[in-house]
Amino acid sequence: MARLIVQPQPGPLTGSVPVPSDKSIGHRALMLASLARGRSTLRGFSYGEDNVATLAAFRAMGIAIDDAGDGTVHVTGKGLYGLAAPAGALDCGNSGTTMRLLSGILAGQHFASRLIGDESLSSRPMGRVVAPLRQRGGRLEGRAHPTRSGDLTAPLDIGPLERERLEPLAYAMPVPSAQVKSALLLSGLYASGPTEIAEGLVTRDHTERLLSALGLPVYSAGAVVSLHPPADPGAISGFELELPGDLSAAAFLLVAAALIEGSRVTCRRTGLNPTRSGILDVLRAFGAQVGFSPQGDRLGEPVGEVTVAASRLVASDIGGEVAVRAIDEIPIACALGARASGVTRIADVAELRVKESDRIAAIVEVLRAFGVDASEQPDGLVMEGRPDGPLLAARVHSRGDHRVAMTAAVLGLLADGTTIVDDVDCIATSFPRFAGTLRALGAEVKVES
Ligand code: S3P
Repeated sequence: MARLIVQPQPGPLTGSVPVPSDKSIGHRALMLASLARGRSTLRGFSYGEDNVATLAAFRAMGIAIDDAGDGTVHVTGKGLYGLAAPAGALDCGNSGTTMRLLSGILAGQHFASRLIGDESLSSRPMGRVVAPLRQRGGRLEGRAHPTRSGDLTAPLDIGPLERERLEPLAYAMPVPSAQVKSALLLSGLYASGPTEIAEGLVTRDHTERLLSALGLPVYSAGAVVSLHPPADPGAISGFELELPGDLSAAAFLLVAAALIEGSRVTCRRTGLNPTRSGILDVLRAFGAQVGFSPQGDRLGEPVGEVTVAASRLVASDIGGEVAVRAIDEIPIACALGARASGVTRIADVAELRVKESDRIAAIVEVLRAFGVDASEQPDGLVMEGRPDGPLLAARVHSRGDHRVAMTAAVLGLLADGTTIVDDVDCIATSFPRFAGTLRALGAEVKVES
C-alpha cells in the first residue's frame, strides 16, 4: 500500500502546470462515443482509473476502443443499439459515475448485465438510481444496503428489457445528483417518449451540454431539463473532443497556492463549466486572488487558464448552491478554513457522507490530526482556523478516498515536520500524477510503496 511523504514547504509554489482531463466529462464522452455511429476521437485522456473503468466496460460490450497510450483514444461506436451482452460482470472499480450512468444505459438494453465495484462502491447508495429507472419500466435488482434501510447497493443486476422501449418519465429529484440526472437522461435515449427531470438545485450539466452539442433535443429551463428520444438509432454521429482539464483536480493545486505565502500557480486548459466552478467562488470568498483567461469551449464546455495567488485568508461560510457547485471540492476547501482567521462553517453537504468515504468524518479526523479544532455537523462541519505558525505534522489515513488523501497532502505542506499520508493508491482514480505535479511547482512530496 503506497504512502505519501510530505515535507513542510520551504518557499512559494510557482509555475504553470497541466491537470488531468475532466473525469466527469471523460465518462460521458466515452459513453456517448460508444453509442454514436462511427469513429470518435478523444484527445488529452489522462487514464484516471475511474475513466479507465468506463472504457473497459464498453470494450466488454463489444465496442472497439483504440488507445494509443498517449491520451488519444479512438472509439468506434455502433449506434444506440450496438452494444453486445458482456461475457461477465462489468467492474466499475471505485467509480460511482461509471455505475450510476451505466445503469441508465443498461436499463434500456435487451440483454442482461451485472455491475460490480470495489468495497467502497459496494456500500454506496444505488436506490436513488434504481427507483426512477424501475419507474420507467427498467428491470434492476440490487443488494439490500447493509446500513441504509430500504436502500440498495451493488452488485446491480440489470435487464434484459422485456418491452420494446422504456416509458417516458417525469421525475423530481429528491437529492441533488448529477449522476442520477445523467442516468435518467441516458436511459431517455431508449424511451418511447420524453424524459423530464426537475432538480432542486442545478447540478453539473455535462451530460446536457454534450448531448446538445451532438445535436440531440435536450433543453434546460432553470432547474428542469427535458430530452426527447431520437427516432434514429444512429442519431449520434462520431465526434472529436479535446477533453478539458479537471477543475476538481486543479483545486488541490490552486488551494495550495492560496495557502502558501508568495505562491502563484496556473492550471492550463481547465474546465470552467459554471455548474462545476464553485471552488473559484469559495477561493475568492476566503480572500485568495483568482484570475482566469478563457480559451473558448470544447463541445459546449468552457475552458481556460486559472491562476491563484496567495493572500491572507479570512474565514467564510459555505452552503446552498455554491456547495452543490463545489461538492467534490469541499474537502480541499477545508484546508482554506484550516488556515483562515476565524470560524468557517460548511453546511448543506450531507451528501459528502455517501461519497467514496464519509468525507465529513474523514476530513474532521484529518483536520484534528493537523491540530485544527474541527467538529462534525449532520450536514457539514465547523472549524476554527490556525492562521499563524505551522500546523502539526501528522500521520493520517486516506480511508481509500482520493480527495481525502490529496487534502491531507496539501495540509502537510503547512506542517512543522514530515507528514505521512497512508493508503494513497486511490489518488490514481482521478489524478495519477498528483505528486509529480506538486513537485513541479516546488513541493517536496514523494510516494513510497
Ligand atoms: C459526478 C457527480 C457528483 C460528483 C461525482 C461526479 C458526475 O456525484 O460528486 O464526483 O460526474 O456526475 P453525485 O451525482 O452523487 O452528486
